[in-house]
Amino acid sequence: MPKVAVWWCLIVCGWNGGATSHELKEDIPVLQCPPNVNASQCLYKGHQADEFLFSLQGKDVTVKYGAKHFKLSCPQGINLEDGILPAFAHPTAVPTVTLKGCTPPAALAPALAALNVSLTTLTDLTLRALPALPAETLSLCSSLNLTLLELEAVRGRPTLFADTLKDCTGLVTLRLMGVIINLAALNLLPVSLKQLALCSGSLEELPPTALQRLTILERLEIQSDRLRNAPLAVATNLRAVVIRAPLSNLTIAAKLENVTLSGGAAAVVPNGTCNVRSLRLGGAPENATTEWLRSCGQLKALTWYCAARGTAGRIPLPPAASLENLRVYRCRLDLVNEAWLRGAPALSSLELMDHAATALPRELLVWNVALRSLSLRSTELNRESVRALEIAELLQLRELDLSDNPSLGDLCGGGSNVDVNAVSALVRLRALRVLKLRGTNATRLCPDWRRDLPALNLLDLRKNNISRLQEEDLQWSQESVTVELCDNPLETVSYSGEQYRAALVEPPSRVNVGLCKNDILAPTLRCDCDVYWFAHALRDRPGHAPPALAALRCPGGTLLRDTPLEDLTCPVPAPPCPHACRCAATGEAVSVSCNRAELDAVPSLPSELPVRTLDLSHNALTRLGTVALPANLTLLDVSHNRLQLVDLEEVEAALNASRLLRIAGNPLRCECAAREAMAALIAASPRIEDWSQVRCSDGVLIAALQPGALCARPALTAALVTLLAATAFAMMSIAVFLTSRRARKRIKWFLWWRWRGAEIEAEEVDAKDARYEAFVSFATNEAGRAAKLAARLESQGRRLCLHHRDWAPGELITEQIARSVRDSRRTIVLLSDAFLDSAWARAEFRAAWALTQRERKPRLLLVLLPELTVPRSTLAAALPADLSVAVATCTYLEWDEPRFWERLERAVPLPLVSVASPDENASKDAQRY
Ligand SMILES: *[C@@H]1O[C@H](CO)[C@@H](O)[C@H](O)[C@H]1NC(C)=O
Ligand SMILES: *[C@@H]1O[C@H](CO)[C@@H](O)[C@H](O)[C@H]1NC(C)=O
Ligand SMILES: *[C@@H]1O[C@H](CO)[C@@H](O)[C@H](O)[C@H]1NC(C)=O
Ligand SMILES: *[C@@H]1O[C@H](CO)[C@@H](O)[C@H](O)[C@H]1NC(C)=O
Ligand SMILES: *[C@@H]1O[C@H](CO)[C@@H](O)[C@H](O)[C@H]1NC(C)=O
Ligand SMILES: *[C@@H]1O[C@H](CO)[C@@H](O)[C@H](O)[C@H]1NC(C)=O
Repeated sequence: MPKVAVWWCLIVCGWNGGATSHELKEDIPVLQCPPNVNASQCLYKGHQADEFLFSLQGKDVTVKYGAKHFKLSCPQGINLEDGILPAFAHPTAVPTVTLKGCTPPAALAPALAALNVSLTTLTDLTLRALPALPAETLSLCSSLNLTLLELEAVRGRPTLFADTLKDCTGLVTLRLMGVIINLAALNLLPVSLKQLALCSGSLEELPPTALQRLTILERLEIQSDRLRNAPLAVATNLRAVVIRAPLSNLTIAAKLENVTLSGGAAAVVPNGTCNVRSLRLGGAPENATTEWLRSCGQLKALTWYCAARGTAGRIPLPPAASLENLRVYRCRLDLVNEAWLRGAPALSSLELMDHAATALPRELLVWNVALRSLSLRSTELNRESVRALEIAELLQLRELDLSDNPSLGDLCGGGSNVDVNAVSALVRLRALRVLKLRGTNATRLCPDWRRDLPALNLLDLRKNNISRLQEEDLQWSQESVTVELCDNPLETVSYSGEQYRAALVEPPSRVNVGLCKNDILAPTLRCDCDVYWFAHALRDRPGHAPPALAALRCPGGTLLRDTPLEDLTCPVPAPPCPHACRCAATGEAVSVSCNRAELDAVPSLPSELPVRTLDLSHNALTRLGTVALPANLTLLDVSHNRLQLVDLEEVEAALNASRLLRIAGNPLRCECAAREAMAALIAASPRIEDWSQVRCSDGVLIAALQPGALCARPALTAALVTLLAATAFAMMSIAVFLTSRRARKRIKWFLWWRWRGAEIEAEEVDAKDARYEAFVSFATNEAGRAAKLAARLESQGRRLCLHHRDWAPGELITEQIARSVRDSRRTIVLLSDAFLDSAWARAEFRAAWALTQRERKPRLLLVLLPELTVPRSTLAAALPADLSVAVATCTYLEWDEPRFWERLERAVPLPLVSVASPDENASKDAQRY
């Protein structure tokens, strides 16, 4: 600020830059108005960082100057040669100069020199918003040594002539955007070019002769509505092209590696030896894509934006042995063509976006795909279809993106209940590092992600429906992991008292939580009893939680950790809250307020309710009774009632422990019979908050009472004693009622719900709901044995599921597997060599195994057939990993062991309600075997 003021003054006073003291020289701005130009023409107004503000003929102009760049705009009507533009104070080396809206003068170099730009170091020149290129004889590069020249016109389409570039002998990069180049200039492009962009929109012809000269050209970019022919084969060194044009033929050179075609060009098929590695086709029809794949055997990456929606994907792409990376966008595919995956054994990254698929490509689930990255964004997947991942052999998968599938919902097992042992469909993806579930309508974090995905380091859950975080959600077994939770309606972070105590001593959470600005500006947190223990932990040890959560705010804007803990309450319903009262629970205690409720007896408080403060002021209590008040009551307010407090026991019960009391406004009987009670009150007076206002019924302050004066006063009447006894009886009846079994149950329910969290109930497949007693999984070769087994078990009324008999035709096989396994109480696996060789059979096994592990119930029954040639002693070692664990941990039967049938029948349960006769179809089918 002072700097600006000083210079303002100097400029206004007509300082001419010559006579200045050394001291002030430090302050000379690097950019200034030319000397001898008056302030109405050019005025320096100050600078900030790399921006220098000038006023040129009254118009504000910003000039940018940093270590490597200098950017100047010519306001309308002012040009380089006018001599009023700001210039460097000293000759300055800037490699990059950008001029915007400046018409180049006949000689550009002197104009730049006038700005004090050092010409020897200038290599990159960009002219933006070029109004015109005046003379045919203009030579842009004359006296300059440019390697990059970029000309951009927004309108007017200035034309570049042969002479314009004649001195650009060292030019490496030329970019023409909206600037037309005539044929003569095209044929005389500098041979030093390595990068060329011709994006005028109207290039008609690309003569082979022009390209032939450019022997070191590596990258060519063309955007034109008219170009039909792209004879690229002549540009022998070309590596990368980007063309948007309605081409009808395209020849390519052997060195070409990266090709991006859009517009009509995407429909053209290449002619020439194709060594293209990376191909992007924008709006390509399927037959063109097929042709490219067929002619370019080296293709590693194909990105395909479909031309037409709906039908794409039906045509099998030809086998592509080298294809590693396949991206297909915007085709609304309803199914991924299986041949795409089968024909691409090297595929490591598959990305499908904007499709109508409701199921995962099933080939992913059975063939051993070496996939490392799978993205299925904006498709129409649902929770059931993703369940199929349970049986997928995607053991290499590092990155899974299922974002923007709004009907996905929660992937955790255990239905809508929170089951800490449940596993999500992703539990087998043990190599997973990045999991993206943005916009999937998720409401929680699945426990197995924290526990069973050891390599996970990024979990993207933005734009979801997560409203509740629990302490467990912050405990990750991984070394470091980031959970993005921006744009979730976060309402609570719930800890229990125990978790609070643990948080004070245990190492801080290793998870890094990401929230966005909006979560802080418009907090959705419910600052009530649910966050009590979390807030308590933040207050006592802010560093234990991820910083983003430690910075959470309540809707009023105060930091959660600065909110008074006693304000974090929830209302307690009645019962357990006594009817006339209002109860507010924090995370550890309840305060009960029954003031002005016309009570004539102390309401009963269930012992489960951890009451700390009880306000009974302004009622009609005549006795407190000797019934135990809540043990941990710290404040009892019985002021402004009709208490006489004659009975010592009653007073002692009220004063119990170190509790505070308020008793003013009661007609205390200061008489002889009450002397012991009075003495107790006086002894406890430091704990009686309103002691200075406590009076006898006759108005005498008790604090002022003389000891011994009491026994001079009249005694209680017998009538009053009777009344009190009646009241006490009524009170006890109410107490009995309120603590009846039903009330206690409600109380328990309430407390548990408040303090412990949502219901925990493992989801069980109820035997009643099972459709089958057993699903038999076998390889086709073993159909005979399967039929024999089915006939035997079904003859006793069991219902069995055999795939060739019981599956609906046309449904997705992976879904049928999952459903059959789930709907059956057992899965019997007939293990043979053929079984081990069958991808489908193994998928069936994996589904059953996943379910067995998830439910921790004996579901899987292995039957080793004589056709399994592996010696039994080395069986476990010879099997694939899952199977060998199953063999090691499950009981199995040998088909030809002596008591096989007996043991089998014992292992497969009978239906609960015995089925009189198996339905007709089944028995008919069974007879076929
Ligand atoms: C132009 O620049 C190149 C390298 O950038 C240099 O070798 C050459 O001498 C320069 N020529 C002139 C005339 O400055
Ligand atoms: C081709 O594309 C790949 C990846 O997109 C890139 O790494 C490579 O540098 C490109 N090659 C050329 C010559 O542009
Ligand atoms: C390119 O297509 C045009 C028709 O659009 C045809 O006349 C010409 O012969 C083709 N050029 C080559 C090299 O095939
Ligand atoms: C492919 O290019 C060769 C020359 O490179 C030409 O003779 C032939 O006609 C072209 N074929 C097509 C279908 O364009
Ligand atoms: C692709 O199909 C369209 C019509 O569907 C046809 O006009 C075009 O010639 C085909 N292109 C090739 C390369 O087969
Ligand atoms: C998101 O889930 C809720 C239930 O949790 C459901 O009511 C809603 O319809 C779901 N939204 C979408 C788009 O599926």
